[in-house]
Amino acid sequence: MSNLSALQQLAAQLSRSMATQSAGIGRKVAILGAAGGIGQPLSMLMKMNQQVSQLSLYDIAGTPGVAADVSHVNTRAQIKGFDKDGLADALRGADVVIIPAGVPRKPGMTRDDLFKINAGIVKNLVEACGKHCPGAILNIISNPVNSTVPIAAETLKSLGVYDKRKLLGVTTLDVVRAKTFYAEKKGLDVTSVDIPVIGGHAGITILPLFSQATPKVALTAEELDALTKRTQDGGTEVVQAKAGKGSATLSMAYAAALFADSCLRGLNGQPTIECSYVESTVTEAPYFATKVKLSTEGVEKIHGLGDLSDYEKAGLKAMMPELISQIEKGIEFAKA
Ligand code: NAD
Ligand code: LMR
Repeated sequence: MSNLSALQQLAAQLSRSMATQSAGIGRKVAILGAAGGIGQPLSMLMKMNQQVSQLSLYDIAGTPGVAADVSHVNTRAQIKGFDKDGLADALRGADVVIIPAGVPRKPGMTRDDLFKINAGIVKNLVEACGKHCPGAILNIISNPVNSTVPIAAETLKSLGVYDKRKLLGVTTLDVVRAKTFYAEKKGLDVTSVDIPVIGGHAGITILPLFSQATPKVALTAEELDALTKRTQDGGTEVVQAKAGKGSATLSMAYAAALFADSCLRGLNGQPTIECSYVESTVTEAPYFATKVKLSTEGVEKIHGLGDLSDYEKAGLKAMMPELISQIEKGIEFAKA
């Protein structure tokens, strides 16, 4: 298929799916870090979401250009761009705030190496959310997610506005990758595949549950191990391929747009199920990703782990020390 006809097909698909979405109540969405590698395509995808009536694009640099560009797309959302003095206005009245602000990895770095810079960025931005849109649902993308979500929680607690139902770490890219790799390996229609991914969002803390995949297809021990490791190292695969020019941006924008769409559907009374990294009592880790039900107040229900295979039980045990220490690091930082 030529590139042109593939694009035409995508455009037709998008307009069909937007036409079938009920426009519903128009929601205000703010993207913080909107001029970045993730922020730009995410801004476009949220502009295409029929549930969005106002879209605030905030960044410390480059937002006027992105806002002018995206604003020409003939969809419902009204675009406003905000520079570094406009954070309060960008946030006021927001229903959902998506935060991809911060630095990405370069080859050889772990996500935890980003803590030094991104911890402070997330703390400051979430503080502003707590002051200017305390009831909003926050979608945290900035890495290391295992620590930035606890930082956000402590920051909101210190302002007296923390609601655990409304703070969500975005781990959708892990689910997107697990689905893609599994479908590719077994020759399945990827649109019919579902795989829960639990734990956190870094290395071995990412645990895809192929034993709970639908459709269920037999995997050899080698295939299972290879698929699990590829999902855990998916971010590094992209970082290495980009060779110093950042990490996943396009697939991440796609994943973030899917996740934000589910949050908006939930707010608009159409509950959805997604995997997300949230405050949780499912395991001994105080924050943990499992399937959650999203509805009018954010997370309505946190699902359990379901039946795990012995391979997955071992993966769960192995991740715990690392996950808990990254959570504690975030909590200590926010309290300091
Ligand atoms: P990028 O450098 O391309 O963009 C980041 C943007 O954030 C820049 O435009 C920058 O100006 C902006 N920014 C920096 N400080 C800010 C502040 N205080 N307020 C507002 N904006 C600010 O990086 P990227 O590729 O878009 O990645 C962003 C973050 O997302 C990184 O931390 C990366 O590791 C993370 N990420 C997470 C996932 C995930 O699955 N959760 C996936 C991919 C990337
Ligand atoms: C990803 O999973 O792609 C992101 O967390 C970015 C990274 O640093 O790998």
